[in-house]
Amino acid sequence: RFSIENWPSKPQNWSSFQYPFIYGQTDQSLFDHSNWRQCALMALGAKDFSSLTSDYYDQDDTELIEFILRHSLPRRGITASTDQVLVTMGAQNALWLAAQVLLNQRRTAAIENPSYPPLRDILEQSRCHVAPVNLDEYGLIPDQIPKETSVIFATPSHQCPTTITMPLERRQQLLEIASNLDALIVEDDYEFEISSKKSASPALKSLDSEGRVIYVGSFSKSLFPGLRLGYLVGSKPFISEARALRASVLRHPPGHIQRTAAHFLRLGHYDALINRMAKQYSIRRSIMATSIKKYHLEIAGNTSPQGGSSFWMKAPKKLDTDILASRLIKNGVLIEPGKNFFAPPDQPENYFRLAFSSINEEKIENGIRIVAENIIKLTGSN
Ligand SMILES: Cc1ncc(COP(=O)(O)O)c(C=O)c1O
Repeated sequence: RFSIENWPSKPQNWSSFQYPFIYGQTDQSLFDHSNWRQCALMALGAKDFSSLTSDYYDQDDTELIEFILRHSLPRRGITASTDQVLVTMGAQNALWLAAQVLLNQRRTAAIENPSYPPLRDILEQSRCHVAPVNLDEYGLIPDQIPKETSVIFATPSHQCPTTITMPLERRQQLLEIASNLDALIVEDDYEFEISSKKSASPALKSLDSEGRVIYVGSFSKSLFPGLRLGYLVGSKPFISEARALRASVLRHPPGHIQRTAAHFLRLGHYDALINRMAKQYSIRRSIMATSIKKYHLEIAGNTSPQGGSSFWMKAPKKLDTDILASRLIKNGVLIEPGKNFFAPPDQPENYFRLAFSSINEEKIENGIRIVAENIIKLTGSN
């Protein structure tokens, strides 16, 4: 029942590819291994031992929560108290918990179309009705959200996969519609730390005066996805329900992992890392944009992303990007076909995602050239 279709497949050996335009994986060359090791050793020491060896299913690591409350959330314009935050096993687990707490077979969830494919599986498990809502250049179109919707899932900071940053006016409209429908919004802020040249726009939750927004954060893109650390922010009753559900499924994310991350954050290594990543991503983003232009590839929607770590691309209509991806693999190039991001039955085949979080800046132009050449070979045009 749960061996699902929408799971993103990523080759385990992606880092051995010459041109890995792969999404969501850590660039080893940017990560701060030595300080991470130090923090892991500290968390294993006698001082931390007693607090980490017991089950604490009804709470989380106090140091990690402290950092999230004092640093991560204020950066996004959000204030919260300890009992409004729950540490999760990544954003994935946070989305699952939110869906299980808020939805059932009588309720409707609105999702963006296109959207993060595993979200559709999560919603299927909650047995709710799923209403895919179209996007325009500003992101989710609030007027198209069906009246019967009780929960809206959205990625306003960097829409997944189009990378659109929802402007302020649209955010206000979305909140207004949610209020009229008496719906909740789950804001998936899965990659906010990797912001743009300018500072990132505040989270939707920071504008929420009615307590309608449940916020999902993650350390997967800023530290590494195998860490499996994220968090939920919501009202006390909601967090209390999510905490009880989490406890029944997995008790809590491992204490040692929470504490290692807490040390890394508290000692300033995290800020140094995300600054380094932001600088490097900005260089890569601009080389990507120049190369895409030079080789006449098309960015879907024709606008370069404001931050994030990927470009959402449109190939000629007749091209199936699954076929393109399998041809490119033989040339050492990894791309992500786009079909699965769209809700069935209308799943266009000519979109694909090119991420730059794990590719060396010197490889980008050549990689893009190979993508462009293969598109021409497959379609006879560009
Ligand atoms: C839009 C979106 N939401 C959620 C997730 C899950 O993130 P995590 O690795 O924190 O579980 C991802 C992962 O790539 C994502 O792209």
